[in-house]
Amino acid sequence: EEFGDLVASLPRREQSILELRLYQGFWLPEHWVPGTIVFQRRFAPRPEDVILASYPKCGTTWLKALAFATAARTAYPPASAGHPLRRLNPHDCVPFIDDIFATGEDAKLDALPSPRLMNTHLPYALLPAPVVTGCRVAYVCRDPKDMVVSLWHFLRRAKPDLSFADTFESVCDGTVVAGPVWDHVLSYWRASVACPDRALFLRYEDLLHDPAGNVRRLAEFMGCPFSAAEDVADVVELCSFDEMKALEVNRPGSGTAGRFRAMPRDAFFRKGVAGDWANHMTPEMAARLDEIFREKLRGTGLAFP
Ligand code: A3P
Repeated sequence: EEFGDLVASLPRREQSILELRLYQGFWLPEHWVPGTIVFQRRFAPRPEDVILASYPKCGTTWLKALAFATAARTAYPPASAGHPLRRLNPHDCVPFIDDIFATGEDAKLDALPSPRLMNTHLPYALLPAPVVTGCRVAYVCRDPKDMVVSLWHFLRRAKPDLSFADTFESVCDGTVVAGPVWDHVLSYWRASVACPDRALFLRYEDLLHDPAGNVRRLAEFMGCPFSAAEDVADVVELCSFDEMKALEVNRPGSGTAGRFRAMPRDAFFRKGVAGDWANHMTPEMAARLDEIFREKLRGTGLAFP
C-alpha cells in the first residue's frame, strides 16, 4: 500500500500471466516492486552472507540446494537420511530475499544460520549498494534457448493456453519477467569480472558437465572450501535432478514453493537437461535468439556457445 502511487506511475506491460512494471530499467512483475524497494532501502549485509542470484528458470533451485548442502555439511552430512533437503524443497531452505521484505518479515533474516543464504531474481544493478561491497553474490546463468523453453513450461502451469511463440517473442523484445535477459546476465558478468571474490558467475551447462568441480568452486567462493580429502560426491548426489525430483516433497500435489509460494513444487523439476530447446524451436527461432544475444553481448567477453 505504501508504494501504490509509485508503482502505478511506472510504465506497464502485460506479459502472459504477469503485469510488468519498468523499474530502474527492468521489467519486474508488479507484485515484486514493493519488496524490491524495501530490500534496496533496508538490507544490511553481513560479510559472510551469500546471495544466490539467477534469472528465472536458469538453475535457481539447483543452486539453492548445492549451496545449502555445501554450507551446512558439518551440521547435516549430505549422505544422512535425515538431511533437510530430503524433506524440504530447496526454496524452503533458502528464502527469496525480496519476498521477505515484501511481507515485512525481515526478522526471519536474523534467524538464518551463518553463512546466511538468500536468493533473488533481481539483476545486479538493482541490488542494494551495501551488497556490492558488503557480501558475496553467486549467479547462475543458462543458455537462453533452454531458459525460454523452461520458462514457457513453468508459466503454462498457471496459464495452460499460453503459446510458446508468445513467450519466445517477449524474451526477444526484452519485456519479460526481470528482463531484458541480456542486461540481467551482463550485470552479473560484469560484476564477476570486476570483483571475482565478491561475484561468482556459474553456468547451468557447466554444472551438468562437471558438478563436482563447480561445487568446489562454489564452496571456495562461499568461504567453506572442501579439503582435498573431502569428497563432494555426496553433495552432488543429494542435489541431483533425479534425487530431488523423486522426493515425496517435490511430487505433484505436494504443495507450493518459490516466490510468494506461488507454484506447485513439482514445477521446479521438469527435465533438467541442456539442449531441450531443439524440441521446441524451429532452427530459425534458435538462430534469431542466438543472434540477439550475440549482438547484445558483443565486446563484453561473455558469450553463449
Ligand atoms: P527444465 O525446465 O529445462 O527442466 P529454476 O530453478 O531457476 O526455476 O530453474 C528450473 C530449471 O532447472 C528446470 O529446467 C528444472 O528442471 C531444472 N532443475 C531443477 N533442479 C535441478 C537439478 N537438481 N539439477 C538439474 N536441473 C535442475
